[in-house]
Parts: sequence; structure tokens; C-alpha cells
Amino acid sequence: MYLDNDDERVLAGEFGETRQKMMEILVALGGVYGAEKLIPIASAQVSGASYKTIGKWGLAWLQSLNARVAVPTVLNPIGMPQEGWQEFGIAEEFARNQEEVVRAYRRLGIKIECTCTPYYLRITEYGEHLAWSESSAVAYANSVLGARTNREGGPSALAAAIIGKTPYYGLHIVENRRPQVVVEVEGGTGPRADHWGAVGYIAGKKVGNRVPIFSGIRPGRDQLKALGAAMAATGAVALFHVDKITPEARIFSFATDGLDRVTVTESEVEDLFAETEVEAVAVGCPHCSAAELRDLADLLKGKTTTKPFYVFAARGVAQGNPDLVAAIERSGARVIPDTCMVVSPRMDEFHSIMVDSGKALAYVPGMCGAFARIGTRRECVEVATS
Ligand code: F3S
Repeated sequence: MYLDNDDERVLAGEFGETRQKMMEILVALGGVYGAEKLIPIASAQVSGASYKTIGKWGLAWLQSLNARVAVPTVLNPIGMPQEGWQEFGIAEEFARNQEEVVRAYRRLGIKIECTCTPYYLRITEYGEHLAWSESSAVAYANSVLGARTNREGGPSALAAAIIGKTPYYGLHIVENRRPQVVVEVEGGTGPRADHWGAVGYIAGKKVGNRVPIFSGIRPGRDQLKALGAAMAATGAVALFHVDKITPEARIFSFATDGLDRVTVTESEVEDLFAETEVEAVAVGCPHCSAAELRDLADLLKGKTTTKPFYVFAARGVAQGNPDLVAAIERSGARVIPDTCMVVSPRMDEFHSIMVDSGKALAYVPGMCGAFARIGTRRECVEVATS
């Protein structure tokens, strides 16, 4: 891989050991994927932020680093809200370790916005090259915004953040963004027919790591978010197109002749919806938008929760909508920033959790050791308040 003079000096250790190590990560990655060069990035998003997922070795590695990020960089959700973790039920020892992780990232110059929806912070635009690592954020950035990022691991996103560059391969190259499989969604009429998290859960299993293009559907932005998150979880989708909806579909929608075709049937989607008892309800995977908070506030109006009901959202989104947060919390539900139902140890204490997300349906069993039930947002509210 070609390196310019400055890159070579970084690799030789002239700018410190941490930068040298980070450049070594990028050079190794570029070598594996046959990248010809490094390209500048506009922003980075770094996963591996919850102490639950990185543990003491991850923390020790972060504390050993000594450099500053070169581009605007945010974090993935951590294992607890930064304030009020006691009321959320987080153990003191975990909280102290989590605070150490946050301190280590802050020392690197990373903005402590802990969210899988960094695009609500308006840190990226069409065509920009990024190094983002949370899979649903990657799918949204590539597909809905038309930015360009591979699905980075935590260390490679951090390396790119500190160097300010990433290897030029994969989805940074326009040619690799062509659709590889056409997905048709069997139309339905029931209230679950447009549950895009459930559709994505099924579609992800069928398309694997290919680039799908959907035709004949008209999801909105939040629905695209749910669709992409679920496909990234059950498949390895980092980019998808929706004919006449997503920004690059107009470039590629003519290029579908001869592609494989798969169908998501109404019965496959419907079969995901089991009606079992649950101990808790959690929504906001990926983190809620303002519109989703408004929808929840409307659904919860005049109701009182009878079991724990957690609503996860980015700190900036929650703080920007205090009236909606207050309206939701009047019911007894809690709006929790900075963390989520998968990366927080709080959720490990439940044996069964209801979610409205295809991604959470895929991850909660393995990450929380709990049975996961999926429902629509309305069904989640009904179960939480019945
Ligand atoms: Fe975000 Fe956690 Fe879901 S990181 S996408 S809310 S699993």
C-alpha cells in the first residue's frame, strides 16, 4: 500500500508509539484487503465502548494509548447512562470500570457522545469517507446518507480516527457499491406487514454479506434505520439500496438484470411474532429519533407502565426533546441515554425482554442471556402497560 512521506514517518515511530501502532493496524488492514493507498476520512465512530464488551484487557489497552484523534470522533453506546446509573441498577464496580473507559477515550480527544445513531448529530454528508464501526450506523451512513464506510472493528476505527485516514478498499470504492441481489418484500395488510426490523431480520439471513437492492417498498428514514440494523445483525449487510428512495439507487437501479432474487414473505415476517410473557420491554435499537420519541409519547399518553420499560436514545436527541422525554416518563417508562439493551449489564438481569427491533431480536439472546420477543412499537407499549 502506498504511504506518503508523513505516513512513512508515522510508521517509523517519529510521532510516538501510539501513532506508530495505529499506522501499523491500518497498514496491516490495507494489506489484507489489497488497498492501494490511504484516504482521508471526515469522521470516525468507535465501538468497543461498553466495559461489558471490552472488559479489563480492553480498558488496559485503551489506557496504554497516548495520542489525540485527528478527526471528529464519537463513541458507540457504553454500558450505562453517564448520570443516574445507580437508579438504572448498575453495580458500583461496573460503573467505576465504565467511567475509566470513558476517561481513556476522552483523553484521546473523542467526543463522549455514546450512540449508534451519530448521524443525528449531523456529522456526515453524502459522499464523505468515514471510519465507523457500529454495524447499524454503518448501514445507515452508507445506504441512507450515501456516505462511504467499511464496517470497521473498534481498533481499526480508532486507528483511523487517530491517523485521520483509512485504507481505500471495499465500500470506499464506488464499483463495490453496486447491488448484488434483488430483494422483494411480499406485501401484507396487517399491522406487522411494514415492521421493517422484522423484514430486515429475515432479509439479512437471505442476503448474507451481499449488497441488496429492494424494489416496490417505500420506508421512511426511521424504517430504513430499522431495516438496515436488522440486516446488519442477521446478515453482514453494510450497504443496501431501495429503488427510488436511497440516494445511490438512482445510480444502480438499472443494473439489476441477472442478479439473484430473494423474497421476504409475509408469513416469514409474521412467524417472528410470538406472544409470550416478558419481564421487561426495551425499545430504541438503534437509538430513537425525535420522531420515534414523539410516537412513543403519543402511545403512552394516559397509560402507566406495569413492568420496566426502557427507551434508549442518544443523549443529544433526548436533551433536545425534553417535553417528549417528560411525556414518556410520566407513564413510568424511562428514557436512558448513552447505553442500550444489548451492551448494558442491566438487561442481563431479565430472563425475557420484549423489543421492537429486528437487531435486538437477534442480539439480546446471546448478549443478555434472555429470551427476546419482537413486537411493533404499539404492541411493546401495550405489553409494558397491561
Ligand atoms: Fe444501537 Fe445497541 Fe442496537 S448499539 S443498534 S441500540 S444493539
